[in-house]
Amino acid sequence: MKILVIGSGAREHALVWRLAQEADVICAPGNPGIEDEVECFAVAAVDTPGLIALAREQAVDLVVYGPEDPLILGGADAFRAAGFAVFGPGSAGAQLEGSKAFSKEFMVSAGIPTATHESFVDAQTAIEYARIRFADGYGVVVKASGNALGKGVIVCEDIFEAEDAIQRIMVDRIFGDAGAEIVIEDRLDGREFSLFTLISDNYAASLPIARDYKRIGTGDSGPNTGGMGSFSPDASITPDLLHEVEERIIRPTVVELHRRGLPYRGNLFTGVMLHKGRPHCLEFNVRFGDPETQSLMARIRGGFAAALYAAAVGEAIPPVEFSDDAAVTVVLASAGYPGEYTRGKRIEVGPVGENVKLFHAGTTVVDGWLVTNGGRVMSVTATGETVEAARFAAYQAVSSVRFEGMQYRSDIAESI
Ligand code: AMP
Ligand code: GLY
Repeated sequence: MKILVIGSGAREHALVWRLAQEADVICAPGNPGIEDEVECFAVAAVDTPGLIALAREQAVDLVVYGPEDPLILGGADAFRAAGFAVFGPGSAGAQLEGSKAFSKEFMVSAGIPTATHESFVDAQTAIEYARIRFADGYGVVVKASGNALGKGVIVCEDIFEAEDAIQRIMVDRIFGDAGAEIVIEDRLDGREFSLFTLISDNYAASLPIARDYKRIGTGDSGPNTGGMGSFSPDASITPDLLHEVEERIIRPTVVELHRRGLPYRGNLFTGVMLHKGRPHCLEFNVRFGDPETQSLMARIRGGFAAALYAAAVGEAIPPVEFSDDAAVTVVLASAGYPGEYTRGKRIEVGPVGENVKLFHAGTTVVDGWLVTNGGRVMSVTATGETVEAARFAAYQAVSSVRFEGMQYRSDIAESI
């Protein structure tokens, strides 16, 4: 089987690395790390005609999308119309991520437990709603409805922060057009985890739980990022809880997709929060998560390519085999991230252990030197018999990588 993986981040590096152990893989556009694994082609992830031409020329059997933006724009639809098997939903299903207003409405009509919310296209009405929620004793979270690369969510401590968030998202448009509509929802509180479910029309198969660290700073301080680290498995999420997530969130989602006539073949990423001990759905994404994917790929033993292919062609999904080992991923980011960040800093990489993998994200090669070229630069993923052993190995490997201004969290997988 020949697979084309689309994308250029550490998530795609991890997908390529895993899939290449099971199949023949090419990537577009890739990055310097992915180029060390497989052949890469300089076609952008949103250049759908260019990608289809490449897939024809290379006679690929399966197309796997990494990022969400080309899915929201209909990339998978175009590939399907051209006769390819594609892992990734069409633009209609991708609205589960492309529009938070749509996805909240979807959750409510499917009876999925989620925070109470309202959607707004007018700032003044939104501010009045936030005032009422605070007066009634709730906290609020203000979310840009459109796609804002995981950063369009502001958790507000008081009404002043909420008013400021509404002003900045809707009026100042700090997230661009993604902020034309906003969702305001009640603030929930509790442990969070990510569940990935491979969906093949009416079949669904969840992968093991991974946990993600969203805030930039150690101890969960500072603004949200795309994700600063992850680990898997998470023993604190019991089989009973998982069963409840499957029954109350995943199964109703598959039923609702079917009821609405929304074909879905790809990964559904459910962000879950245990509010008052019960699972609530915070969000859906229509792609694999970054950096959860890095930890999950390191734990797979086999069957991944076959599972993605089955989902892409609407067949029952065969089981993916996971090892009992744990994996921990620490993200290395540029100075300034998630705000304005530096680029072009030379990266030095020393020797790392056999159980360690460096997945590239924002890197490029200039004059023969590997340099930084993005906010999240690299993911350091290590495996071990326990989460503690994997954590130790990951941080040991972190100390083998250097670039000016490198920042990372020192508490990934620490207090679990
Ligand atoms: P989202 O992109 O919707 O998952 O939001 C990003 C992050 O914001 C989540 O991972 C949570 O940490 C936080 N968040 C989102 N919605 C809520 C909520 N209703 N209550 C508390 N925190 C939230
Ligand atoms: N790690 C969270 C995300 O990929 O959105």
